[in-house]
Amino acid sequence: MKQTAAAKRTVLGVLAALVLAGCGEAPKPATEPAAAALSVIPAPRDVEIGAGEFVITGRTRLEFGAGVEGEQLGGYLVDLVRRTHGVALKSGGGAGNASNVNVIRFELRDGADALGTEGYVLASSPTRILVSARDSRGVFYGAVTLWQLMRKSDSGIVVPEGLIEDWPRFGWRGLLLDSARHYQPPEFIRKFIDVMALHKLNVLHWHLTDDQAWRLEIKKYPRLTEVGAWRVPAGAAPAADIDPATGKPRLYGGFYSQQDVKDIVAYAKSRNITIVPEIDMPGHASAAIAAYPQLAVIDKPSSQVPADWGIYPNLFNVEESTFQFFQDVLDEVVALFPSEYIHIGGDEAVKDQWKASPRVQARMRELGAKDEHELQSYFVRRMEKFLSGKGRRLIGWDEILEGGLAPNATVMSWRGVEGAVAAASTGHDAVLSPQPTLYFDNRPVAAPSLPGRARVVTVEDVYAFDPAPAALNEEQRKHILGVQANIFTEHIRTLDRVESMTFPRAAALAEVAWSPVKDWAGFSARLPAQLDRYKALNVRYAEPPPPRPLDPFRRNSHELSLCSDKIALSLEDDAPVSGDRAVFLVDIMEPCWLFKDADLSNVTSLVAAVGQVPFNFQIGDAVKAIPLRAPATPAGELEVRIDDCKGERIAVLPLAPAVGNHAVTALPPAQLEAREGKHDLCFMFTQKSIDPTWVIDSIALQTTTAATE
Ligand code: ACM
Repeated sequence: MKQTAAAKRTVLGVLAALVLAGCGEAPKPATEPAAAALSVIPAPRDVEIGAGEFVITGRTRLEFGAGVEGEQLGGYLVDLVRRTHGVALKSGGGAGNASNVNVIRFELRDGADALGTEGYVLASSPTRILVSARDSRGVFYGAVTLWQLMRKSDSGIVVPEGLIEDWPRFGWRGLLLDSARHYQPPEFIRKFIDVMALHKLNVLHWHLTDDQAWRLEIKKYPRLTEVGAWRVPAGAAPAADIDPATGKPRLYGGFYSQQDVKDIVAYAKSRNITIVPEIDMPGHASAAIAAYPQLAVIDKPSSQVPADWGIYPNLFNVEESTFQFFQDVLDEVVALFPSEYIHIGGDEAVKDQWKASPRVQARMRELGAKDEHELQSYFVRRMEKFLSGKGRRLIGWDEILEGGLAPNATVMSWRGVEGAVAAASTGHDAVLSPQPTLYFDNRPVAAPSLPGRARVVTVEDVYAFDPAPAALNEEQRKHILGVQANIFTEHIRTLDRVESMTFPRAAALAEVAWSPVKDWAGFSARLPAQLDRYKALNVRYAEPPPPRPLDPFRRNSHELSLCSDKIALSLEDDAPVSGDRAVFLVDIMEPCWLFKDADLSNVTSLVAAVGQVPFNFQIGDAVKAIPLRAPATPAGELEVRIDDCKGERIAVLPLAPAVGNHAVTALPPAQLEAREGKHDLCFMFTQKSIDPTWVIDSIALQTTTAATE
């Protein structure tokens, strides 16, 4: 790791202090490559490693200087070390043991400006470790680094002798968790916060409201969660899952009570994490509108919370009563969340309803907005003024630039980095959170069991993200508060999968956000230790599936090729309602698969296993571009063509046997004529409508030999 002259001087100063405090000699030169041996993620800024070791034992005592919240920090570290290394440290107590050895001391210190509020210095000798920082946040991160430095050696659990001086590159090191599309219980949120903190991530952007749910209890508007937090999931299987208590389809959902939120916010604070709540407006409004129809633009909005993904046309109206509603909501939000920033969404608000509504058009004129973009801008400015009056700052997705940015607004740039460029060039702050690289709903690995957007964004892709893009000049870069990855959960239904989609990519993000160095080889060398930490803490993480040679005669949908890549998804079945569900690779804009290079020489028949998934995607007029092929029978067919998708049709498999089964059905075998050599086979369905969408689960080719066995 790079060692600047200035940093060196500070390090030597610290070292001198450590020696004066009775810690022995300066580190001897390292005998192994320092940085890789440390396995600290994110990589610390400056590191010097000596040859000695501090041995952690049951007698190692944690000591806290004045002003350090020893009970909290001690409890945290003792627990972490016990869970991951099986050693029980002693925390606090006593005024120091007589020999002043085997002590890990945490203290606050003055000066050392470069450390800032989150930086720390960690000095370890064989007899004593000193973690010092200007602020409790720095002390906390010093403790996290200390924990990561612990490793097994012949002497037990040891910390290498050395000196680390470290502070972050960016102040905003965030993850967005979407708790609207799928609900995660408070225990999970706490676990997520815990794991974030171990990466020195410090912002949890909590996506609490969307079309598919409103998850935050608002005392003044109880229907937001009584109605807005519950929906019937999309698809025939959930629709058939009748709740005996109501005689209606079982509702899926949940919400966070204000007490839950207070507990979570306090917990996050103890882990140095600020929760930035997001209340989305003026779009992503359907759940709130289902609860309070007077917020709608249209006359008779649905009273059901919808379950489609995508972009709904529903917007909030622009009546004074609606602004008042949001001010009331934000009043409660600011009382719950101490965060300086409050996120008001602002994304994907298609203006069709505003354009079509005479009442909105009249209000637009009344409010002096020349078009719908200016009207959204007016909406955002009202909220910004209100939040400013409460001492808070507004942040929104990059669409808030359209129609003019509110004076003190901060932009979260998601449609590339252009939003950040535009914000920064007019003196506004920005957070970089661009798709696809920092969108963790894209799959981390091509594992057939992992739903998500089909595109694979690897750990290395995330690591390669440049938070100082060339599009920004030096001056503009000063406005970049930091980086954030977003875990939107349309396709992430289970808690295990939230973890697998997040980790270890969040480790790469953390290093991008914290470390001034970019060193993929070094990061890769440190990653196995991070994965071991996940294992010890029972955190799921993504790993590339073991390489599996393609079976010449059987392929699941993930092993087939898609004919196109328009909206390619790794899509989970809606059935069975409980238990494991199939996951299909499909381009929902063109469901069509290729079995490439099928050797048909001895093939006599073909077995297709198929599923049907709800077409629950709000994609506007694009839906008209989805090809529909006329069926020959009412239920439709799976057609198999040879050599390409316009080639000879060599088999037709009626779907009737699968219609009544919401999960996967193996259709009766279709006879195939033997043909010489290898051919591509193309699979497409005929059907009257796109809902449900038929999908391939697997294709098996049966040979003469297999058939006679
Ligand atoms: C977004 O992904 N709509 C911010």
